[in-house]
Amino acid sequence: MDLKALIRDIPDFPQPGVIFRDITTLLKEPKGLKYVIDSLALECEKLENTPDYIIGIESRGFIFAPALAYHLDAGFVPVRKKGKLPADVHSIEYQLEYGTDTLEIHQDAIPSGSKVMIVDDVIATGGTAKATSDLVQQIGSELVAFGFIVELTGLEGRKKLPDLPCISLVEY
Ligand code: PRP
Ligand code: HPA
Repeated sequence: MDLKALIRDIPDFPQPGVIFRDITTLLKEPKGLKYVIDSLALECEKLENTPDYIIGIESRGFIFAPALAYHLDAGFVPVRKKGKLPADVHSIEYQLEYGTDTLEIHQDAIPSGSKVMIVDDVIATGGTAKATSDLVQQIGSELVAFGFIVELTGLEGRKKLPDLPCISLVEY
């Protein structure tokens, strides 16, 4: 499937010079949505280590991670922006493409020793996914893979990540 035909390019958003790859136009196409979830699931079947838990990163990671978890008979665990999770958390501050932010995970979200995959809509600079992988390390789980719909290769985000399988379905 031609995913680029379903993803809308928005010039100068959120700031001049940036071309924003808008996945809302992909999501609203039933065949597009099904294709990206099925494709992620197919790629996961090739992994040496099957994940027990799929972490989705707030907010657009929440669109894809639970659907993938359902497919794989895995659990879904949210990583959220600061102050949203009600129980005890681990926190990490990280650099965004456009500023800084803090991500959190419940300390008891994942039994130690479990296999975990991190899923998000986009990898740009890689700061968000790297921070999430550091959180996974803090809770003592085994990270086995990353999964993204869109990879902005020019920003070389993949280079920031640990050396693990890194699935992306479309590259810009
Ligand atoms: C976007 C995107 C990824 C992240 C990628 O999220 O959904 O999570 O940026 O950028 P990076 O690889 O440079 O870290 P954003 O923080 O804009 O939040 P949102 O999903 O709530 O819109
Ligand atoms: N599209 C969607 N999310 C993003 C982008 C983009 O181009 N860059 C950073 N996060």
